[in-house]
Amino acid sequence: MTSKSRIQNIKGTHDLLPVDTVKWQFVEKIIHKKFQQYGYSEIRTPAFEHSDLFIRGIGDDTDVVSKEMYRWTDQGGNDLTLKPELTAPVVRAYIQHQLGRKSAINRIYYMDSLFRRERPQKGRQRQFNQFGIEAFGSPYPEMDAEVISIAYSIYEQFDIKNLAVRINSIGGTEIRSPYLKLLRDKLIPVSKELCKTCNRRLGKNALRLFDCKNPNCQSILDEHAPFISDHLDEDDLAHFNSVLSFLDTLEIPYIHDKKLVRGLDYYTHTTFEITSSSLGSQDALCGGGRYNGLVEQLGGDATPAIGFAAGTERLMLVLENLEIEDKPDIYLVLLGENVISTGIKLADKIRKETRKSVILEPSRRGMKGQMKEANRKKVKWAILLGENEMESGIVQVKDMITGEQKDVPLDKVVSYFQL
Ligand code: HAM
Repeated sequence: MTSKSRIQNIKGTHDLLPVDTVKWQFVEKIIHKKFQQYGYSEIRTPAFEHSDLFIRGIGDDTDVVSKEMYRWTDQGGNDLTLKPELTAPVVRAYIQHQLGRKSAINRIYYMDSLFRRERPQKGRQRQFNQFGIEAFGSPYPEMDAEVISIAYSIYEQFDIKNLAVRINSIGGTEIRSPYLKLLRDKLIPVSKELCKTCNRRLGKNALRLFDCKNPNCQSILDEHAPFISDHLDEDDLAHFNSVLSFLDTLEIPYIHDKKLVRGLDYYTHTTFEITSSSLGSQDALCGGGRYNGLVEQLGGDATPAIGFAAGTERLMLVLENLEIEDKPDIYLVLLGENVISTGIKLADKIRKETRKSVILEPSRRGMKGQMKEANRKKVKWAILLGENEMESGIVQVKDMITGEQKDVPLDKVVSYFQL
């Protein structure tokens, strides 16, 4: 690299410029509100954790752990990883701070950046953002329905069309090993037709087979594989049916997708995703499910839990026509060096005593240049303060929408904007 070459952002990361962040803030504010409306409180966890948390939490045969973690050993010899998802860190914090002992039910939400070394494409970055929730303490189907309905109502509120809720149950751990034996028995005779990854998974983590994107493997599964949701025990089936009936009550349409096992190992019982056909190949707006064993597996008391996480970039992709602009209220046009001090004081007072935003001219341009800037910023008012105004004690306030101009005494400007 020569000393003059420009440094660019890293592949798979992106900058959010001010024209973008104004939209993000608008969207995030609605999501904060929505989560709070259901009684969820925000958590913020560190950007990196001990690698072991993810290996034990997510499972070492998942794509996330086996291929995608940004993992390194620091100067002190600690094996660390930038968080690729938030369920494991939230569970870690839940156990560490004994939240379950303080309250039987904990409803927690987050908005955060995650890191996965995936192949970048539309809707898939190496640094991306998620908003999501984790609900601890209830094993009952109404909690599943609440979690799914929160995700659904966020997309509904943004008026997103072409939504599909895909839902499945993969049951509790008790049914897992007899089912996996059956699955292997059915697939081993046709294993030569399956891809290399499926063959590896067949031996080690056969449920993951359903995640394979290879159409040939999918058609072999269609033909030969038994589905786990057809092998649920009585309680798990009753739980799943109740979740579906609560979704009916809430008028949330869904598809029972028997192949939906999700790509992380901690799931039990309900799994779900919401997809949008407007997104292309990366069509999952969000995904989640129950993980009744994870808290105990990571060293806490046995605690039922369920949650979801949603990609913020994917939401922004479907909202690409959203038009939100930052429009400050007032542009303070300053004409002449002698008025600057009065101008700074006036702007300060308006900001403190009214809730209006005020931009101050910082370039000492002429009147025309400043008015052009005020127009470009789409402000509602311009205040004109020049030496004549200082002398007469009367400034001009221009309504930039109607063009109407008013004389306002300098000492009445603040109260003028208090209206
Ligand atoms: P996940 O399915 O890995 O689940 O991710 C959830 C969502 O994050 C996806 O549906 C997608 O919208 C977004 N996402 C994932 N990877 C990327 C990426 N590389 N670029 C852009 N967006 C991405 C989880 O993370 C679980 N922790 C969800 C959960 C919470 N389950 C229970 N509680």
